[in-house]
Amino acid sequence: MKTLLLSCVLPLCLLAALSQAQEGDINYDESKVVAYTLPDPLLNADGTSVTSAQDWNNKRRKEILRLFETDVYGKSPARSRSVPFHVNEVDTEALQGLATRKQVTIALGNTLADPVMELLLYVPNAAKKPVPAFLGLNFNGNQSVHSDPRIAISRSWMRDSKEFGILNNRATEASRGVQSSRWCVEAILKRGYALATVYYGDIDPDFDDGFKNGVHPLFYKNGQTAPAADEWGSIGAWAWGLSSALTYLSNEKEIDAKRVAVIGHSRLGKAALWAGAQDQRFAMVISNDSGCGGAALSRRNFGETVKRINTSFPHWFCTNFRKYNDREASLPVDQHMLIALMAPRPVYVASAAEDLWADPRGEFLAAKHASPVCRVLGTDGLQAEEMPALDQSVQSRIGYHIRSGKH
Ligand code: GCU
Repeated sequence: MKTLLLSCVLPLCLLAALSQAQEGDINYDESKVVAYTLPDPLLNADGTSVTSAQDWNNKRRKEILRLFETDVYGKSPARSRSVPFHVNEVDTEALQGLATRKQVTIALGNTLADPVMELLLYVPNAAKKPVPAFLGLNFNGNQSVHSDPRIAISRSWMRDSKEFGILNNRATEASRGVQSSRWCVEAILKRGYALATVYYGDIDPDFDDGFKNGVHPLFYKNGQTAPAADEWGSIGAWAWGLSSALTYLSNEKEIDAKRVAVIGHSRLGKAALWAGAQDQRFAMVISNDSGCGGAALSRRNFGETVKRINTSFPHWFCTNFRKYNDREASLPVDQHMLIALMAPRPVYVASAAEDLWADPRGEFLAAKHASPVCRVLGTDGLQAEEMPALDQSVQSRIGYHIRSGKH
């Protein structure tokens, strides 16, 4: 009733903010954002400045990457140069002949024994090969991205959702196509791009089990039972899985592996950014509503905070990240530096007006403050000083838009 009454006088986004604010001391008031100073991405640890692409590539880029590894996402194992895989299915007449569908099991370790990830690939038939591709993790299994009845239903653990047809932690037939509005498969194919996707829980199921399941145990040293404080959490694992998927795609003659964009929404947008930052084979990153630990600045106390994310999702980041709970100002990096790690490759940051939890303004500012790095590398960065109007895209080397609507 109270909500009903309030909804007569308050816009929906404010209501959403209010209900989240009630969960804790989360700030949604721009005037209460504390003053902060961002670390300078172009200032080397030894106090000298980065003035050339060479300085950036040989020195500062490496320093920043190491800081993110040590204090935020944790260090991931080295990528193997090749990944064992098995092609389970090829249909050259998928989607009424629009595409060739392939379903491929990819090893996460050295053999095709569990854990493995299942990759779904659509390649447009009409396009001249090799084609550029979009690669992204999905939330509910490959079968959720399209109603195509031939997509194998994921057999991995999944969070229950009646709405999405996930029962007893497993996807059912009812989950086919439940996320299709978010995966514009036909539009991508008709424009001549391939689309590859993997269920993120294949790589590491998204719950805190002390890293007993998923990919982590494959890399434990003798006697090790959990990642060390500076070793990868789940976001690190998802990003690592994206790199393995790219390694697989480089075997595909029909795919131009030099033009693969890594994409992701929300927690998977965080993983996409971290994948693109570490793995320079990715040609571009597109993150949607990635928020805290993604594109949004951590120092802005607006929406989700470092403490809050480390408390709700203790398995996402490395344990060292918890040192910065309520101490964001002492972080040696901020998320503008994550975006800068992509430079000079393009990055697109997308926000949603009603997604205050993800701090749209903090996402915009991170994109903006990554721009000096692009300029040292001879490109333009983000060509906007102020946030653009709703639903207006800023198209520059770093791109940005804020669309109307929710998360
Ligand atoms: C939660 C979390 C966010 C995350 C989101 C999602 O809201 O707090 O950080 O981005 O889930 O992944 O949907």
